[in-house]
Amino acid sequence: MRAKTMTLLLIILTLVLTACTNSHFKASKNTIAITPQQVGPGEIVDLIAENWSFNQKKYIVPAGEVTVNLINIEGFHGIEVQGTDISIEGDGSYTTTLEPGEYTIVCNIICGTGHNDMVATLIVEEV
Ligand code: CUA
Repeated sequence: MRAKTMTLLLIILTLVLTACTNSHFKASKNTIAITPQQVGPGEIVDLIAENWSFNQKKYIVPAGEVTVNLINIEGFHGIEVQGTDISIEGDGSYTTTLEPGEYTIVCNIICGTGHNDMVATLIVEEV
């Protein structure tokens, strides 16, 4: 009789813990994905990196002062925006002035089998 009660309690506890873990995981992923927005002068671009992709294939900003933030949510990645001076390794920010054009974003840290897939485009539009 006692053994049955204990087993039942264990099952309930496991179910509750599993449910909590899942919802926490989803909530934190959503919180990170919502962050991109403009704050103050200049434009802010948030790139979120995981194994082995960025959160968007294309990022669009108006020309001028741009701050790029890199946030790693899985693995350890960096970015280099070819044709600009933007270079970040791991989590960090870089502010620079960008001319209109189309720039290729690549991961600049050898991060594993999908390293070469970590490519995106930064489109800087004329204002
Ligand atoms: Cu990510 Cu290389």
